[in-house]
Amino acid sequence: MTYMSRFSRPLSREDIAQIGEYSSRRNAEDGVTGVLVTLGTMFFQIIEGDQRAVDALYARVLRDDRHTDVVCLRTEGHVADRLFPDWSMNVFDLDHQGGDVVVALKVVLGRMSEAQHIIEQYTQPAVSQIMTQGLNPLEVPLRKVDRLVLFTDMVAFSAISDRLPVESVSELVGLYLETCSICISRKGGEVTKFLGDGVMAYFDTSEVDDAIESCVDIQLELARIRDKAPPRSALRVLFSGCGLALGPVIEGSMGSSIKMDYTIIGEPVNTAARVEALTRMLGTAILMTDDVRAASQRQWDLTPMGVFDLGRESPTPIHSLTVGLAAEHDMRSLVTDYLDTIVAPQS
Ligand SMILES: Cc1cc2nc3c(=O)[nH]c(=O)nc-3n(C[C@H](O)[C@H](O)[C@H](O)COP(=O)(O)O)c2cc1C
Repeated sequence: MTYMSRFSRPLSREDIAQIGEYSSRRNAEDGVTGVLVTLGTMFFQIIEGDQRAVDALYARVLRDDRHTDVVCLRTEGHVADRLFPDWSMNVFDLDHQGGDVVVALKVVLGRMSEAQHIIEQYTQPAVSQIMTQGLNPLEVPLRKVDRLVLFTDMVAFSAISDRLPVESVSELVGLYLETCSICISRKGGEVTKFLGDGVMAYFDTSEVDDAIESCVDIQLELARIRDKAPPRSALRVLFSGCGLALGPVIEGSMGSSIKMDYTIIGEPVNTAARVEALTRMLGTAILMTDDVRAASQRQWDLTPMGVFDLGRESPTPIHSLTVGLAAEHDMRSLVTDYLDTIVAPQS
């Protein structure tokens, strides 16, 4: 197993030597070998041994508060020959080593850890979590599970992107995606995809009320951004609709040889997208299917909106959650009217 991590606090040469001494002694007892490299505030470690010994050591290492942001880079099974059969754990502190090879190695490792952090920014939390456990997400089997699916996107985005300058559009989309991601992940949801100005996320079905709360948080946070924006600011067009549905989905790695997604597919995903689209027609910010209402434990201020054909086996009763914001109804006209006041009306 190969992983890298970051110091959680400044560590002296003595601290690192102490980790090395302890590790060598204990690994020798457990039949584990490998190498530990430090560079700046980073650790890189290769651990070799019987799978149970490696898993147990990695579990201890993950709990160690001397480092953080542990990312498993690779796990390999059925390895015929060890790379370091004679080292129960040799430590190389590259910051205190000289020579051309070490200088070159330092640059390579430094670049590698920068690249890893960039890649992490583009990776879903679920994939990072699987990798941190030392598993290869591509090898985790697909599974059928119940999930609550949340869709949200910006109201009147086509009009906004047609009429506002590129910089304003990119600022709005960035702020919107950031706001949604924070509100969703704070309540335990997994943001699985950005679709232009839209966000697809899912929650465990034991977290229905958290998912509903995350929709309320999105609405309140956007209202706060609009209210504190200066007059004629483009931020005042930031409105969104949220749709919730739940049911069985297939979860796991899906995609092509060019790009993989760790995601969910299934009927609730399509339904949530359609429920979200209904927010425009019904002039309301948060809509959910009847199954979501039934699974919720809390008393929400819900209004039945009627029964709709969403392409499911039978028409679906839909409920609206009122957040109590003045601007909740007819958000679309609000956005286009406001655009008329800050940019020349379209001919
Ligand atoms: C970067 C780093 C590498 C480590 N490598 C090892 C190792 O190879 N073997 C080992 O036994 N402990 C290693 N440790 C220490 C373990 O995290 C843990 O503190 C130790 O195994 C004692 O665990 P225990 O108190 O649960 O028995 C390492 C710690 C750090 C921060």
